[in-house]
Amino acid sequence: MGPGMEALWEGLREAALAATGQAPTAAAVEEVRVHYLGRRGELTTALREVGRLPAAERPAAGAAGNRVREAIEAALTARASEIAGRELAQRLRDEAVDVTLPGRRPAVGHAHPLTSARRDIERIFASMGFAVADGPEIESEWYNFEALNIPAGHPARDMHDSFYVDADPDPGEPAGRMLLRTHTSPVQIRYLHARGGALPVRVIAPGRIYRRDDDATHSPMFHQIEGLLVDRGVTFSHLKGVLAEFARRLFGPETAIRLRPSYFPFTEPSAEADASCAFCRGTGCATCKGSGWIEILGCGMVHPRVLQAGGYDPEEVSGFAFGMGIDRVAMLRYRISDIRLLFEGDLRFVEQF
Ligand code: PHE
Repeated sequence: MGPGMEALWEGLREAALAATGQAPTAAAVEEVRVHYLGRRGELTTALREVGRLPAAERPAAGAAGNRVREAIEAALTARASEIAGRELAQRLRDEAVDVTLPGRRPAVGHAHPLTSARRDIERIFASMGFAVADGPEIESEWYNFEALNIPAGHPARDMHDSFYVDADPDPGEPAGRMLLRTHTSPVQIRYLHARGGALPVRVIAPGRIYRRDDDATHSPMFHQIEGLLVDRGVTFSHLKGVLAEFARRLFGPETAIRLRPSYFPFTEPSAEADASCAFCRGTGCATCKGSGWIEILGCGMVHPRVLQAGGYDPEEVSGFAFGMGIDRVAMLRYRISDIRLLFEGDLRFVEQF
């Protein structure tokens, strides 16, 4: 191999190694590789030229060229792994996590006090075999009043208590004006119809109701849970037993109930149920206004006309019904003094529960 060849290899080797040593990134290393060792790279081209040398010179020249290529390849590989190592070290520094720092607690929402009160009430009745049903909030006078034995002229139908709306009854339903339902009792009729005479009927129906009222203890929109049980041989003592069990489960095992005679057009006899005050255990406090008792619901034996309107024969079956304010239960349980707080959606309020 002549001195010219040797200088050429040496020159390529030095230039390539210098370029490799200065390549700052993996991409730059790759560029150097392509520049020297690629298909049209300087070294590749020079190696191709070896074929044109006189036969006697080829082996030595080829061997020398291959040694240079190996040297460049080794340098490139070394440089590439050096850069990779440096980049990894940098990333490990940048992305280091101090596992000894205290965690950041994610903000987790929770059920509104009204929702948890409703769910608790539903759970108790569901465990006693009651189904859960609902009905429309825009109701016809027939379901809201007529079918519940509240004839025209009854004070509850007064314009001052009800919100009438401009709407038509569903096709196939009795004609009449429409209103925002004033209680959940119309679901009694709808559910009886849905059961179509089958026994037993055992249902609760939670939902929104509307009355023209607005102060600290009344809201124009509030919530009730209706209860209805119809079967052969249902008596007032069944009603009392179910309510007593419910009150113990909701307010605690020491809770007693008492029933006071009352009047509802759709039950006969009717009663108002009180639970012994869970706060003072019946001795009298601010929550129960000193009486030791807290009113929780209205109830009674389903009026024969209501059974009839629902398609059931009052000679064959009997039943009881009750209606309870969910808002009241939530207010009692969490000692909330103003019902409007439940509906304002103020997070400073909601987050306290
Ligand atoms: N619907 C009555 C009300 O709104 C409550 C009630 C329901 C009473 C069922 C008796 C039976 O006050």
